[in-house]
Amino acid sequence: MSIENDADRLAGPSLAAGDATGWFDRLYQEAAAGRAVVPWDRPSPSGGLDSAGLPAGDGRRALVVGCGLGRDAEFVAGLGYATTAFDISPTAVRDARARHPGTSVSYQVADLLSPPASWSAAWDLVVESNTVQALPRALRPAATASVASFLAPGGTLVVLAAALDSPSEQGPPWPLTHDEISAFAGDEVRAVTIERIGSDRFDGRWRAVFTR
Ligand SMILES: C[S@@+](CC[C@H](N)C(=O)[O-])C[C@H]1O[C@@H](n2cnc3c(N)ncnc32)[C@H](O)[C@@H]1O
Repeated sequence: MSIENDADRLAGPSLAAGDATGWFDRLYQEAAAGRAVVPWDRPSPSGGLDSAGLPAGDGRRALVVGCGLGRDAEFVAGLGYATTAFDISPTAVRDARARHPGTSVSYQVADLLSPPASWSAAWDLVVESNTVQALPRALRPAATASVASFLAPGGTLVVLAAALDSPSEQGPPWPLTHDEISAFAGDEVRAVTIERIGSDRFDGRWRAVFTR
């Protein structure tokens, strides 16, 4: 069984039917039944997620976007943040809760493209890793604006994503160009650092930090 093919096998028909996100829950369901592997289900936090440049947690409020099975949310909670993490897949949220019994993280089902209004400008730390790149390019402006909207004044947004010099229609994933990673800035949100870090896939990986 090829790891990448489980995602490709499910994403293809879903996208062809005009459903950009339905395949995620199907992948998590199949994985829970032992029939598929979730490619991003790894024991360590996402590449580039570390405490460098982040304010101390100290009970500040953190939101983790597209949290999957919780690897990044647990890392952020371990830094002392009061952490909420959300995913569109109810199966991922169920399994994240089960995988981390006793966790302080509040795992919730929510859609990045239609988030609760109360999340607007409410978070001291926002972590987005690999979710925007997993959505078709047509949804990118809305997804990017939604991520940035979560950031409280004075807060920190960390975006981690695969990088590509020229946009490609082939995906998922659809790695971000420099213009696309820069687009998290705007509406009072500004870039602090946009770094390209090493990776053996695509044209490296973005680690970008923004503040409002
Ligand atoms: C490529 S995975 C990355 C998961 C996690 N961030 C990681 O790196 O381990 C993308 C995740 O985003 C979730 N997702 C996709 N579209 C979403 C949306 N519109 N709202 C919330 N979550 C979404 C998927 O269910 C999946 O768990």
